[in-house]
Amino acid sequence: MATTAALVLGLLFAVALLLRTKAQLSVPVTPQLFTYDMVKEYPHDPDAFTQGLQFDSSGDTEFFWESTGMRGQSTVRQVELETGKVLRSKALDRSDFGEGLTKFGNKLYQEVWQSGKLYEYDTLNLDDVKTLAGPLSDGWGITTDNKSLILSDGSSSLSFVDPATLTVQRTVLVTDGEFQVHALNELEYINGEIWANIWLTDCIARIDPATGAVKAWILLSQLRTALQAQNIQQTYQMDVLNGIAYDDATGRLFVTGKYWPRLYEVKPRLQSASPNPLELLDARRRCVKSNSGF
Ligand SMILES: *[C@@H]1O[C@H](CO)[C@@H](O)[C@H](O)[C@H]1NC(C)=O
Repeated sequence: MATTAALVLGLLFAVALLLRTKAQLSVPVTPQLFTYDMVKEYPHDPDAFTQGLQFDSSGDTEFFWESTGMRGQSTVRQVELETGKVLRSKALDRSDFGEGLTKFGNKLYQEVWQSGKLYEYDTLNLDDVKTLAGPLSDGWGITTDNKSLILSDGSSSLSFVDPATLTVQRTVLVTDGEFQVHALNELEYINGEIWANIWLTDCIARIDPATGAVKAWILLSQLRTALQAQNIQQTYQMDVLNGIAYDDATGRLFVTGKYWPRLYEVKPRLQSASPNPLELLDARRRCVKSNSGF
């Protein structure tokens, strides 16, 4: 008798748990909003149309792997953190427009815009390069959780790709509440989340890789306006924020932009844990492109 009662209770409890999980899944996540504190600024090549950025501490000095875009200006390069000095650089074919870059093991993977092509470089010798046929028809951003390569193509989907076979294992649709987030660009895998620059904005989305939900927005537009206000003489006009790099060991977050003469270490600071409708509207106006139903 007691056993039956316990079983029934257990069953009821399990059903309640299931219902609760289901209810949680169907309730859209309201993203938190973050601003930032400036920690440190570094020089950055103002002629670099930054498309991909990856921190690396395996050298004598700390450095980045950087991918630059624009036809005729596209490179893969090794850039010293402290000085911004280009230590090594390899030019892409003149017809290539470089995009995202990530390091996986001792290889670098670089995407090429409007092409399914992926370049695979040996980190020790950038001339040791293979051209691979990636699984997508366009390449924007790329990062890795050391299991999959994670790719964006300017849409609102992220593709998880098997590095061995270059086949898509799964895709996830990125949403802010009920809205799709388009133009996902440069990516960085940080503490179990995917951080993405949204093209043509100065926003970074912190995305849950399992559900695609935007858990938070980091609003960085003041970084660009403050830098523009310095009126630094340069050949090309500064473009949007692009390039996220993270040092796992120390938790330092680095960002820069296309044709930015500076690279910054910034520390995200919580502005609003549960933003009111007006704050949310303002963030979405800045970060979510208008063709997303927003
Ligand atoms: C992936 O591997 C690199 C190199 O060992 C390491 O620095 C990084 O923290 C790893 N990332 C994850 C998400 O495990």
